[in-house]
Amino acid sequence: MSGKIPKYFINDLLFRTNIVDLINTRIKLKKNGKNYQTNCPFHDDKTPSFTVSYEKQFYYCFGCNIHGNAIDFLINYENLTFVESIEELSLIHGLSIPFKKNTISEKNNYFKKQKLYFLTDQMSKLYQKNIISTNSALEYLNNRGISRDMMQLFYIGFSNFDWEGFSKKLNIKKELEKELLIYKIIYINKYNKIYDPFQGRIIFPIHDKHGRIVGFGGRNINNTFPKYINSTETSIFFKSKQIYGLYQVKQQNLHPKYLLVVEGYIDVIMLTQNKIDYVVSSLGTSITKEHVEILFQNTDTVIYCYDGDNAGKNAAWRTLKITLPYISDKKTVKFIILPDNEDPDTIIKKEGAKKFQLRIKNALAMSKFFFKNILKGVDLSSNEDKFYLSARALPLINCISSDTIRIYLRQILARTIGIVDDYQFEKFLYQNKEKNKNIKYKNKQTTMRILISLLIQNPNLSNLVTSIKKFKNSKIKGITIFLEILKTCSENPHFNTGQLLEFYRNSKIINILKTLSTLDHMIIEEKTQNMFLDLLNNIYRKDLEKRQEYLISKEKINGLTINEKKEIWSINKRLKNIS
Ligand code: UTP
Ligand code: MN
Repeated sequence: MSGKIPKYFINDLLFRTNIVDLINTRIKLKKNGKNYQTNCPFHDDKTPSFTVSYEKQFYYCFGCNIHGNAIDFLINYENLTFVESIEELSLIHGLSIPFKKNTISEKNNYFKKQKLYFLTDQMSKLYQKNIISTNSALEYLNNRGISRDMMQLFYIGFSNFDWEGFSKKLNIKKELEKELLIYKIIYINKYNKIYDPFQGRIIFPIHDKHGRIVGFGGRNINNTFPKYINSTETSIFFKSKQIYGLYQVKQQNLHPKYLLVVEGYIDVIMLTQNKIDYVVSSLGTSITKEHVEILFQNTDTVIYCYDGDNAGKNAAWRTLKITLPYISDKKTVKFIILPDNEDPDTIIKKEGAKKFQLRIKNALAMSKFFFKNILKGVDLSSNEDKFYLSARALPLINCISSDTIRIYLRQILARTIGIVDDYQFEKFLYQNKEKNKNIKYKNKQTTMRILISLLIQNPNLSNLVTSIKKFKNSKIKGITIFLEILKTCSENPHFNTGQLLEFYRNSKIINILKTLSTLDHMIIEEKTQNMFLDLLNNIYRKDLEKRQEYLISKEKINGLTINEKKEIWSINKRLKNIS
């Protein structure tokens, strides 16, 4: 893929990009010495393990070991492909991508997307112009209580009942019309008449996070069916990833404390008009994993607001299930269930902003909502019901990756069911501990791991090792890898880290090398050499101590040969010399 975009351009992009700014607009970073830190966005992190280095233009996490440059960050954080992340960086710097001549499909797609952005923008401007002079539309909005300010903030427009009239009225050029047809923004019917699928509808433009219009929602103002339609998906419009109103929220506040998720366009607009400036919606579709990811990328607390009817309650439960895997100690969800037959728009009109604020304040915590729902219809005096309850609840609870929250919910469940069987509960806790241990083990920083990582990051440290003879019989875990890398470094005295990793690209140990290439970056440069030698000595000492221990215990049981006695004597002497 990357071959289709010239290397010089990618280098130029990286040169122009400051990774600290790039990340900081997405997650708040705190300066700490030379680097910037925050809790890692890629795992449930309780301490700021995520570090961004301005100097290296590189990020890495001590907790989960994710790492890379600006392009990697966009790929990982925004779920972009390589080319998309290049597009994103190009957009930031106002550059267009000079695709290589032979990359027709990729290039076409890129220019097609640029064209679509241009055309949706043109259409939106026409709709907005049109609404100003369309009394029926203005009257409709007026009846619904939508202010002029909101019309502007949300770029609300209107599509005429017939295209010809629309086209004449706004003096639309033939050339633009042709392109709108080609890009299927407007259509032509079998009578050769051009029509706009949104005709006769109030238009709610849908913005992406850069403020580009990617599609439209449209509501009828008479009783035509259906009440709402959305643009069909295009290469710039993906319903499952689109959150209505987020662009407007982020114009006010880059890091909103909450995001309140409602169901409809009008709900977003009406609550925003009532000074609740963190309201968004998912275009009337059910919440997807991608939505949840985007929501949590932008805030720590998501509050879902659903209508009180059965459909609303079912949707709320479905949403909770989708959201559970993303909940952590930092990321929480709450729920507001409105009274029957009300939605945010109708209820705020009835009871006013203050009372609605109170509903937000009293939103149900996730755990409360969870048990309230799952206990519905359960008869706790029946063993069968209890069994059914835990069979239903446990798989859901186990989706939560945060230990604290998962165990907390398990405890509530155990208490609810009245489990007195501690053994079962302990067994569960034990299983979790084991799971944790495995995770921690992966990231454990043993002396050997640090030693190897220092060497990978500073291959010229190999100069300091004068002899490897003393490690020949070492049984310390990882020593073979260390000696292998050491050999490569000594044989290639000018290797840098990148070249070293390249050397091992297709070998079995590349993943270990990659992981360790990011370990312990915080060691001050001036101290690296001393640290390396100290660790090397530590390894040597550990080796000697192990052997010493073995010989001592052997002496107690079987006695030692003369050679072994000599050996233990020499070990004692060497140990003394080290310390
Ligand atoms: P609702 O039916 O709850 O309508 O749809 P609403 O938001 O209260 O709309 P108003 O107040 O009557 O204007 C909620 C959302 O579901 C989508 C829309 O995004 C709408 O805002 N929807 C609804 C559709 O996509 N198509 C429909 O026919 C109806
Ligand atoms: Mn409504």
